[in-house]
Amino acid sequence: MLSAPLFTRARPGSSSGLALRGGDPVRTGDWPPWPVWNPKADTPMLSLLKSGDWYRGDGNQCNEFERAYAELIGARRVIATASGSTALVTSLHTIGVDAGDEVIVSPFTFIATYNVVFNQKALPVFADTDPETFTINPDKIEERITDRTTALLPVHICGLPADMNRILTIGRKHNIPVVEDACQAWLAEYDGRMCGTLGDLGCFSFQNSKHIPSGEGGAIAGSDDALMDRCFAYHNCGRPHGATMRGMGENPVRGWNKRMTEIQAGLLLTQIGRARADADKRLENALYLDARLKEIPGIVPYRLSDGATRSAYHLYPFRFKKEYFDGLPRHKFIAALHAEGIPCGEGYGQQYFDGLIEEAITSRGYRRLFSKERLNRYREELHDLPDNDQLALEAVWFYQNMLLAEKGDMDDIVNAIRKVYENREQLL
Ligand SMILES: Cc1ncc(COP(=O)(O)O)c(C=O)c1O
Repeated sequence: MLSAPLFTRARPGSSSGLALRGGDPVRTGDWPPWPVWNPKADTPMLSLLKSGDWYRGDGNQCNEFERAYAELIGARRVIATASGSTALVTSLHTIGVDAGDEVIVSPFTFIATYNVVFNQKALPVFADTDPETFTINPDKIEERITDRTTALLPVHICGLPADMNRILTIGRKHNIPVVEDACQAWLAEYDGRMCGTLGDLGCFSFQNSKHIPSGEGGAIAGSDDALMDRCFAYHNCGRPHGATMRGMGENPVRGWNKRMTEIQAGLLLTQIGRARADADKRLENALYLDARLKEIPGIVPYRLSDGATRSAYHLYPFRFKKEYFDGLPRHKFIAALHAEGIPCGEGYGQQYFDGLIEEAITSRGYRRLFSKERLNRYREELHDLPDNDQLALEAVWFYQNMLLAEKGDMDDIVNAIRKVYENREQLL
């Protein structure tokens, strides 16, 4: 795949001090670029642009992409949407999440996961994270269920499958539908099935950083015809769709325009072909990192949840235990790795204290929809996420494009972390 050398390594015998302290970095130069233009896309994309058929009603790109993506992930049906967020909003609305309802979500996630719940004027209720798997802890879900809980919204964050057997069992027991946020989990597998095809509905994102990119884009996967027809109708201004809505008149349901354009779908069709090989490459490199990184004190790679068979590795996360680094703060560890030529980032922080949630629940609308007691208890629940709070302090991740490089590049990652570990006193 990647043939030309992408980088240079420090010369043997060069200064071994930390790059942050003037030594030679472990690595200079670039990591694989993302996204990557497919040269075979020149002709079809230009002719699509020249055709003027940019709206899905006038062309066949969205239809074709829906078929191709359904085949790739083994879904019965797929609906293309404008973005992952619109896929989630469409799914929550169609599954019945209404104003004044509650949805149980994972707190360790991109803010869109719970902003879409606010979009429905519902309350995103956080259940604590399992810090080993980075996903929602199934043991913490039932204590958050109330008579207003209308959906469970687990997130396969970083591409790591949430513990779907447990989550689906809880959903069935309480008769609560499950919508998967698989916006970072294309080709991730749980029990041999693809994430996003396990719950009642599954949502994907094709935003530019994602593994099948098109600037913006999204999809809903599902197998229930009535539900999928209604999702389609909602995302298409409420127009009836499919056999289950036949004969229903012009706009039988409330709807919105959350459609994907033909241009987005055309681009996705030129990107989808590489997804499987990329996923295999990321897996191979991630498994190598798993084995090597756990040898370094204080570095604890993610664990797959019970039943999970494969991550998508949108991010490669691990926990940085500063006590093994003589108390080195995480931000200094990250800065040191950057200086060594290894990009990495902190995971999601305690976003629930950033003021936006407080703003939402003190709004006139929320005070009408929820009792004072419920909102106060909700505030208390935000302070009862001890494992997520700890994870927010310890998480570090590498980016998916790095896992598309070669094994020698993974050695650079390992060598840089080991170098920081061995020279930690220079940073204290
Ligand atoms: C976990 C998660 N959920 C939802 C979204 C929203 O997707 P989009 O940006 O396509 O609207 C994202 C996008 O980054 C995501 O990572």
